[in-house]
Amino acid sequence: MEKREELYRGKAKSVYKTDDADRLILLFRNDTSAFDGKRIEQLDRKGMVNNKFNAFIMQKLEAAGIPTQFDKLLADNEVLVKKLDMIPVECVVRNYAAGSLVKRLGVEEGLKLNPYTFELFLKDDAKGDPFINESHVVAFGWGTAEQLAKMKELSLKVNDVLSKLFDDVGLLLVDFKLEFGVFSDGSIVLGDEFSPDGCRLWDKDTKKKMDKDRFRQGLGDVIEAYEEVAHRLGVPL
Ligand code: TMP
Ligand code: ASP
Repeated sequence: MEKREELYRGKAKSVYKTDDADRLILLFRNDTSAFDGKRIEQLDRKGMVNNKFNAFIMQKLEAAGIPTQFDKLLADNEVLVKKLDMIPVECVVRNYAAGSLVKRLGVEEGLKLNPYTFELFLKDDAKGDPFINESHVVAFGWGTAEQLAKMKELSLKVNDVLSKLFDDVGLLLVDFKLEFGVFSDGSIVLGDEFSPDGCRLWDKDTKKKMDKDRFRQGLGDVIEAYEEVAHRLGVPL
């Protein structure tokens, strides 16, 4: 597999073409961003930890029948993935209230949501990733009603699989964000990454935050917390 030119540089990952039209390489950098990219810092080991964490989770999801972009790990910071046409919509599933839900509705952080909630945000930093609903996705042509239904179905399946996976190692999956894309065969496939950058994980007993909120809130020991989660799950780092 030959790595070719950079196709796109995101806030935390860079995307490269390869000599295979159906495959891309994702490079996980140490850049850590918050508040729609308004704050960016380099955190040692973050690229490596998130790349390996993501590979582990994506393989668990594949094993549970969820189609993902993951193909194979290439290096500490690099993974080979299926080339997807990304849908610019972020799917957020919440099991407990936190973050923007607490701000928007004034509910207490940690409130158990029964059942879970499913929300959509437009992936557009310049507009602050605005909250949108299903009719916006279809009306503006970001995705079809069928694609959206599949994204929702897969998001809820991810919630089932990962809530259990984290629960087994003493962690609450509070919420998470997923991004999907369309593969060359037209199918909806889970893309981007699943790592502590894009979810909230709390220790079940102490309620200690083990995710990017440590960075957003200046709590310190950000990567140490990511590494502890990886260690509990048995992710080889
Ligand atoms: P929120 O509480 O800020 O809406 O975020 C909900 C979850 O989704 C949280 O785990 C962080 C994640 N998320 C991202 O990773 N990137 C984003 O751009 C957004 C809107 C949420
Ligand atoms: N990843 C997004 C950003 O860089 C949202 C966040 O994690 O706060 O702003």
